[in-house]
Amino acid sequence: MNKELEPNVDTNVVFPKTAVLELTYKCNHKCLFCSCPWDADVPDQNKYRKGDELDLEQWKKVLKILADLGVESVSISGGEALLCPFLLDLLHYIRTETSFNKDSEIVLISNGLAMTDDYLDAFKKYNIHLSMSLPGIETFAQHTGADNVQGVLHWFSEAHKKGIHTTVNVTVTKLNYDELFQTIALGLLSGADSVLLNRFLPGGRGLSHVDELLLSKEQLAGMLDIAEQVLEHADRKGMVGTEFPRCVVDNIDKYKRLHVGTICSAAKEFFVVDPSGFVRVCNHSPRKVGHVFDPQIVSDTEYWNIFAKRAYIPASCVNCKEVSYCDCGCREVAAIVKGDVCATDPCIDNK
Ligand SMILES: C[S@@+](CC[C@H](N)C(=O)[O-])C[C@H]1O[C@@H](n2cnc3c(N)ncnc32)[C@H](O)[C@@H]1O
Ligand code: SF4
Ligand code: SF4
Ligand code: SF4
Repeated sequence: MNKELEPNVDTNVVFPKTAVLELTYKCNHKCLFCSCPWDADVPDQNKYRKGDELDLEQWKKVLKILADLGVESVSISGGEALLCPFLLDLLHYIRTETSFNKDSEIVLISNGLAMTDDYLDAFKKYNIHLSMSLPGIETFAQHTGADNVQGVLHWFSEAHKKGIHTTVNVTVTKLNYDELFQTIALGLLSGADSVLLNRFLPGGRGLSHVDELLLSKEQLAGMLDIAEQVLEHADRKGMVGTEFPRCVVDNIDKYKRLHVGTICSAAKEFFVVDPSGFVRVCNHSPRKVGHVFDPQIVSDTEYWNIFAKRAYIPASCVNCKEVSYCDCGCREVAAIVKGDVCATDPCIDNK
């Protein structure tokens, strides 16, 4: 029987208001740090199996299901979303036939390599917020396998001219740490409106490059100080998306312009639908918890609820006075690296 024709009945699961749609597995970069689970070089039994990518009509059905679940906003990612052949048709559909992001921009994350003026014109028309990756300047090609730093800066500038809001999105690694100030500054000077920093989290292809890329504790604190400094010069705001353990940095509340997340939002604020409809709690997660066309969308309710109900606090944190607003960093990374979602974030053990 066609799974798409069955009703979707879910009990025991509360769906977040935001869904991240990963439109394609494909990508035209080969980032050393990429956390996409399907690109991990892991033993066969642990491989993240790609399914057939959904087509436009199937994504429309997904959107209908998400609306029925009470989802109110979507954001777009991948893989590389600009390689999805029906990206603009899907955006048109969202804006004209659904009430997602009714009064807000739709965030689209891209590496910028396949950007065109036509894409930007459409993004203006559909009120898209473009979050474009810039993992370094001198180290951009080393990180991504593509020599396109000038291209990304160019598209920030063009987006700015067209009145499209943008974020310069930097995955911070040991390799680009020394040029972090310049990287953020060039992104902002080229026209980006805000800054998103992601500390490198081991996962996906990045698992093969942990020693090269993982920041030391000193660098974790330094990355926040550097970002705050640039933001102050530029009179802008920024945020860190990959959550920090509060005690890894001395006085994490001191930053005025940089918001540093310390609570995991997976399965609480957002969840992910992968290119073939599988559901995960976070884009960093290699664990499928269900499929959007199944009658019970989340079948692995145990894993889902560990995230939804914050049932993942490490034993060493349980009695900490900060624990109501700290999840000890990234819970998925604990699961990936240590095989235990309740283990401490590996950045705590790193020197
Ligand atoms: C998986 S990418 C997909 C979108 C697009 N291809 C891009 O790179 O911008 C989504 C975001 O995750 C970030 N990211 C990827 N791997 C990461 C990692 N290991 N740790 C932290 N952030 C990561 C990327 O920089 C990007 O901002
Ligand atoms: S981080 Fe984005 S651009 Fe880089 S390989 Fe992964 S999906 Fe592609
Ligand atoms: S909850 Fe854990 S990680 Fe967070 S501040 Fe306390 S001891 Fe540190
Ligand atoms: S699993 Fe949670 S802490 Fe880790 S990146 Fe996702 S939302 Fe952040």
